[in-house]
Amino acid sequence: MRPYSLLLLLFPILSCSTESGKYSKWTIYRGDEGSNAYSQLNQINTQNVKDLKVAWTYRSGDEADYISLECSPIIIGNILYGVSPRLKTFALNAQTGKQIWSFNPFEKGSNEAGVSRGLTYWEDGNEKRIFMFVYNKLIALDATTGKQIMNFGDSGYVDLNKNLRDDGKEHLEDVQNTSPAVVYRDLIITGSAVDERYQGSPGHIRAYDVRTGKRKWIFHTVPQPGEFGYDTWKEGNATSGGCNAWGGLSLDSKRGIVFAATGSASNDFHGGERKGKNLFANSVLAIDAATGKLKWHFQTLHHDIWDYDLPTAPNLVTIKKDGKTIDAVAQVSKQGLVFIFNRETGEPIFPIEERPVPASTVPGEESWPTQPFPTKPLPLCRQHFDESMITDISQAAHDSSLAKAKKYAWGSIYLPPSLTGILQFPGIRGGAEWSGACVDMKTGIMYVGINDIPNIVELKEYKPDGDDDLSGMPLSKAGAIIYQKNCASCHGDDRKGNQTFPPLLGIEKRLKPNDVKKNLQNAKGLMPSFASMPAQDKEAIVSFLFDLNNKKTYVADSSHRRPPAPKNRYTLKDYIHLTDHEGYPGVKPPWGTLNAVNLNTGDLEWKIPLGEYPALAAKGHPNTGTQLFGGGIVTAGGLVFIGATQDEKFRAFDKATGKLLWEYQLPSGGYATPATYEVDGKQYVVIAAGGGGRQRTKAGDYYIAFALP
Ligand code: HEC
Repeated sequence: MRPYSLLLLLFPILSCSTESGKYSKWTIYRGDEGSNAYSQLNQINTQNVKDLKVAWTYRSGDEADYISLECSPIIIGNILYGVSPRLKTFALNAQTGKQIWSFNPFEKGSNEAGVSRGLTYWEDGNEKRIFMFVYNKLIALDATTGKQIMNFGDSGYVDLNKNLRDDGKEHLEDVQNTSPAVVYRDLIITGSAVDERYQGSPGHIRAYDVRTGKRKWIFHTVPQPGEFGYDTWKEGNATSGGCNAWGGLSLDSKRGIVFAATGSASNDFHGGERKGKNLFANSVLAIDAATGKLKWHFQTLHHDIWDYDLPTAPNLVTIKKDGKTIDAVAQVSKQGLVFIFNRETGEPIFPIEERPVPASTVPGEESWPTQPFPTKPLPLCRQHFDESMITDISQAAHDSSLAKAKKYAWGSIYLPPSLTGILQFPGIRGGAEWSGACVDMKTGIMYVGINDIPNIVELKEYKPDGDDDLSGMPLSKAGAIIYQKNCASCHGDDRKGNQTFPPLLGIEKRLKPNDVKKNLQNAKGLMPSFASMPAQDKEAIVSFLFDLNNKKTYVADSSHRRPPAPKNRYTLKDYIHLTDHEGYPGVKPPWGTLNAVNLNTGDLEWKIPLGEYPALAAKGHPNTGTQLFGGGIVTAGGLVFIGATQDEKFRAFDKATGKLLWEYQLPSGGYATPATYEVDGKQYVVIAAGGGGRQRTKAGDYYIAFALP
């Protein structure tokens, strides 16, 4: 009998808090503060995983086609906390899936929906809090009751749009957050998601008092005059934002260091107004968690013009190299590269070489002449594209893809975007994505899902409003013009949307005019905020979208004079993949892979295609892999669990070999990272299955937990 088991019998309620052992709980997004999604639980293992059955299913009642449910739940004791597609936070009995409470941040019946990848838990004595993000709000809930804590921040929340620039002025910001914050002592520390177009907000990292919501420190990811890094912006950075850690943060609480990985500087695809290296964009940052002071940084890409955000917080790992044990930081990137650094000094573990890359020809652009390439591990997706790599799944697929591809330039990674168009490979969706990698903390082997699909990147001149005289035009006609300038780049000239953006044609079937106006107020996922758009313009867009045949005409608002458009501004024409005539990727498979990388040696242990399309499998092309969204977890039971595939399956692999040991057909895609936990001696594996989103498969509202019978 273990010495404390008597205590457990007497006080069963305490049993959860007396659980011992690192990596046995899942109280933090992605498993532990180092974001490794590793569990030492081994009840479910390579021998018995074939017997895994559904233990419970929870349905929130929410569905939202264009939102993917990306939440990885946390489990505190025997309560599971998660988020629904319409951003309701809920608490469930982790053994039965029965709801304990649910908190709806919106009015009842609202059409609002958004991405929340997870929650943050904090406790001190009897005080227990759940922190969630709803667009621009950091909300604190009482973990026991689900009631909003009204004395946190400004009446119940911290507004991320406030206290960002420290110049005493009010700015129209577009800050939101989609990934959970981390807690260090009594600070809650967070990155953000911001608009990636011209004049987007800066992605400064901030810490707030976990009790009051008061801002305690700020780290300027876009450095201010006088600060280190400011001189990496040749003409200053007044019109630039971004450089934001939208994929969450990792924490080394023992050393008191918070680690962030940042995205591109805005505007994404043209850096003419931000010449220079642009620190701290695309950088791994080690920041003193108590003070917000920078300890070290490494920029993985200089002057990004490809939207190659570092999409995920790094893994804090321990590796063995040359007989030494080293605490390290491993960062996966959208380019499919893996950068590994000494955790304390930021020194690369394997050499990283600066190699020359081709120069941009777009007017006003000064691309950076070299880029960093890790010598090890080798890239996890293809880094080059030529005619021999065009899909060969059928003659028709080949011919249709080649015909499209031939209109654009091809080449290797860091081929610069152009006005005539390039095939960008690795694509904008990675390589790695927000789900990041999981790492076996016993062996130092990293498991990571990787996309391998090219994009077509074509730039066009950016013309903001201002030049046109809309006055006197019928309102819906003016709306059509305003739509083309502000909305068509994503929702399509024809309003039909595409793989990434929802159609607005037929919007009247889903939304009311007022809902659309509300939609324009807040940024949501890739949808930017149009809060600063004149009311008349919003009215005109609505009139156009709903085909309101009213007699109103457009009256220019003299109080809102638009500034003349700066010259030499360029943006992306369209977010599109290179696809064949049926919509499959235009490159040879595999299109999505699961990779096992040994971080000690830098060598690839194994690589397998992940997922397939039943229609293609039936024609003799199984195992093509699919685009992936959602991460894996790795367990001491010898397993890697991952959903992520467009075939909507949840799978378990032997972590040693990559052999498929179990699979389950989910009711909708599991585009989220699973979690595993133990209650009363039983191990569960749970995944959110919300489908939809960028995968364009059927939407759902499920959380499904599995256990052995
Ligand atoms: C940079 C890309 C982008 C631009 C520009 C953009 N949108 Fe969106 N929009 C999106 C995305 C992505 C979504 C889905 C957002 C979500 O719910 O995650 C969306 C959603 C919407 C929705 C909700 C659709 C639904 O079915 O619920 C409306 C309405 C909408 N956008 C209108 C507009 C209008 C009007 C404009 C121009 C003023 C505009 N958008 C500009 C990307 C964009």
